[in-house]
Amino acid sequence: MRDQAEGLRSIVKSDASAGRKILMGLETQGNFPKVVAVTSGKGGVGKTNIVGNIAVALQNAGKRVIIVDADVGLANIDIIFNIRSKYDISHVVSGERKLSEIMIETMHGIKIIPGGSGFAHLTRFTEGEKLNLLSEFETLQDQADIIFVDTGAGISSNVLYFNSAADECIVIATKEPTSITDAYALMKILSKDFKVKYFKLIVNMVKSEDEAKIVYSSLSGALDKFLKDVVLEYIGYVPVSSEIQRAVLKRKLVLDMEKDADVSKALEKIASRIIDSDIKSSSNGNVKFFMNRVFETGANN
Ligand SMILES: Nc1ncnc2c1ncn2[C@@H]1O[C@H](COP(=O)(O)OP(=O)(O)OP(=O)(O)O)[C@@H](O)[C@H]1O
Ligand SMILES: [Mg+2]
Repeated sequence: MRDQAEGLRSIVKSDASAGRKILMGLETQGNFPKVVAVTSGKGGVGKTNIVGNIAVALQNAGKRVIIVDADVGLANIDIIFNIRSKYDISHVVSGERKLSEIMIETMHGIKIIPGGSGFAHLTRFTEGEKLNLLSEFETLQDQADIIFVDTGAGISSNVLYFNSAADECIVIATKEPTSITDAYALMKILSKDFKVKYFKLIVNMVKSEDEAKIVYSSLSGALDKFLKDVVLEYIGYVPVSSEIQRAVLKRKLVLDMEKDADVSKALEKIASRIIDSDIKSSSNGNVKFFMNRVFETGANN
């Protein structure tokens, strides 16, 4: 155990200095995957469906995508892709399995990391368990251009840690007042307690872009008034659609089933905006840093 703890400290120490060098521009930035947390204040607003479909659009556009199912409540990314996993992240934490052994590849080539209950006790991981996870996350480095983390909803500590550790946070909201107030509450905590100052917004289940813009205006208006240093960028909307619901019932993705539907076009448009905004990691890049930041946030809060 002592050896593992020492190993962890030396990895973290050497990576921290490598990360600082990269940040200071002293080394050429590598082609690190960008880690994007997808989150919401209120549950059931469409995170998992949006992540799944955008992942398909990105993969179809030639990007390599990994999805981490970090929702410790009701993990369901496997359901929408109709895949089954025998193992999950808890087996990696315990050292029983390698990440490569628990990852499932979809027919599109997207790699899914099932969280199961594995992330549930993040703050109580032993040094050895952290080391297992950190060294395994390092292996993702060359395997993806973008890593989506489906964080689950709300303001539980895990949701907050994953968001604060990610390169980018995408918040999903609907026009329901509770979804808007909960999205605001989430951004407030993330900005005040975790120094996250920049968010992207996708508005789901609206009739038109006009409706989506109303949701955006009410959120950005509240931010302008009460959290002046927080920036919210609108990156698109997804129309309310019976096609998504039909796809969910068939355990398929709407982008595979009805590529020409308005909803699929809207999802593809968001994916192309994500490609257009620099897809490379903006911060210290290394995927291991991401996991390490999750642990650090946990230790400091
Ligand atoms: N644009 C849409 N139009 C119609 N129905 C939708 C749309 N997006 C999502 N839904 C419906 O909402 C349900 C919940 O979606 P999803 O599971 O993606 O939400 P979630 O935010 O991941 O939920 P949770 O917080 O439980 O993880 C889906 O089963 C689907 O039927
Ligand atoms: Mg979900």
